[in-house]
Amino acid sequence: MDYDRYDRIRAVQWQGDHLRLLDQRLLPQEERWIDCTSAAQVTQAIKDLAVRGAPAIGIAAAWGVVLAAKQGEPLVPALAMLRAARPTAVNLMWALDRMKARIDAGADAAALEREAQAIQDEDLAANRHMGELGAGLIAPQSGVLTHCNTGSLATSGFGTALGVIRAGVASGRIEQVYAGETRPWQQGARLTMWELVRDGIPAKLIADSAASHLMRSGAVQWVIVGADRIAANGDTANKIGTYQLAIAARHHGVKFMVVAPSSTVDMATASGEDIEIELRESAELLSVAGRRTVVEGADAWNPVFDVTPADLIDAIVTERGVIERPTTLAMQAMFGR
Ligand code: MRU
Repeated sequence: MDYDRYDRIRAVQWQGDHLRLLDQRLLPQEERWIDCTSAAQVTQAIKDLAVRGAPAIGIAAAWGVVLAAKQGEPLVPALAMLRAARPTAVNLMWALDRMKARIDAGADAAALEREAQAIQDEDLAANRHMGELGAGLIAPQSGVLTHCNTGSLATSGFGTALGVIRAGVASGRIEQVYAGETRPWQQGARLTMWELVRDGIPAKLIADSAASHLMRSGAVQWVIVGADRIAANGDTANKIGTYQLAIAARHHGVKFMVVAPSSTVDMATASGEDIEIELRESAELLSVAGRRTVVEGADAWNPVFDVTPADLIDAIVTERGVIERPTTLAMQAMFGR
């Protein structure tokens, strides 16, 4: 695998005394960096989606704890503030629980720094391993459809679903990638296309509403997505619109793959019904690129994740292995109870 070509973007960068984040609100027009020197700034960056994607917000939050420790801030309120930044992606809580365990064991700022670095490094290793595992499921000359952004921008590097796509392209299994726009925030249009074009991967953007038509055409054999939380029965929360892709995929005989590190698996949550779905401001739907497109006085409903039931998923790929047709028993066998 040519990582020099396919793994060049690092959106979350620890600088020794502050955290640099590539501002994902401005891409692809502008590559501007934000320097965070406090846990409060990291929390705000997560809330505002300057940094987004389940693994990336967990990693950023871990660095937020390090900043709090370095500044002698009380750590319990800092942990609580970071934890409340967004509700759905369990990687955030997972990373903070890991940092808290180190704090409870008496870790100083230097030890916390090592823990945050370990969280970041392990994520990259997991992504590269998942890339190989996931690509191995794909037949040569396939077309694939992805949703949202699951690439280097959403992780420590390489990506989850986009890592599988990178590995699949590099090994000649994937010939054509389609990316859904991902309204309203346009992670697919703005971020995934930016990553794919940078890597020279053959990619076409589609309107989210073109997905069923695309599947019917026979151009895609797999839908490949990431996850924000995978419940104990395999139900998977991911970006709004994922569920309808899974329904359409099953209808058209297209396979559906979820790719996520084990830090996204939440065995304490029995099923998708128990996953909190983030509702964001209606303003995100009522405007495009900061310009109001809907009549004044209109309201909107803006859930930003949905849950795909396990029985619509053909494979869950984690760094621990692949679960085909996920069930609670298979999940327990891989992740414990
Ligand atoms: O609201 P976002 O942009 O943070 O949502 C991101 C997603 O839904 C991704 O698909 C998910 O976090 C997996 S990223 C590897």
